[in-house]
Amino acid sequence: MVLVKVAVSSDLPPGGMKRYSVNGHELVVANVEGTYFAIAGNCTHAGADLSKGTLEGGVVTCPRHGSKFDIRTGKAISGPRIGFLKLKTGDAKTYGVKVEGNDLMVDLPDNPA
Ligand code: FES
Repeated sequence: MVLVKVAVSSDLPPGGMKRYSVNGHELVVANVEGTYFAIAGNCTHAGADLSKGTLEGGVVTCPRHGSKFDIRTGKAISGPRIGFLKLKTGDAKTYGVKVEGNDLMVDLPDNPA
C-alpha cells in the first residue's frame, strides 16, 4: 500500500464529492460531515461514473440506474432499478483516506486496479 496525495481539503467542502484518477485507480472521494471517504469511481453494476450521481448523508446514488452505496463502507445499500426490475449489485471497493495538513492522501495498493 502507498499513500498518494489526491487533493487538498478545500477541494471538497462538506457534502462534496469528486472523481480522481490516481496511479491507474479511478476514485470518488467525498467529504461526509468533515470526514473523508473514498470508493472506486465506477458503479459495480454497469460502470457508470459515480461522481456524476448524488451524495446525501454518506450515500452515493448512481446516476444511471440508481444503485445506492454507503461511501463509508462501500456497501451496496440497494441495487439498480431498471423498469420494474429491482436487481442486486456488488459492494464498492473502498480506499482509506488520511488527512495530512491540508492534503488528502489515499491509501492505494501498489499495483493499478
Ligand atoms: S450503472 Fe450504476 S446502477 Fe447501473
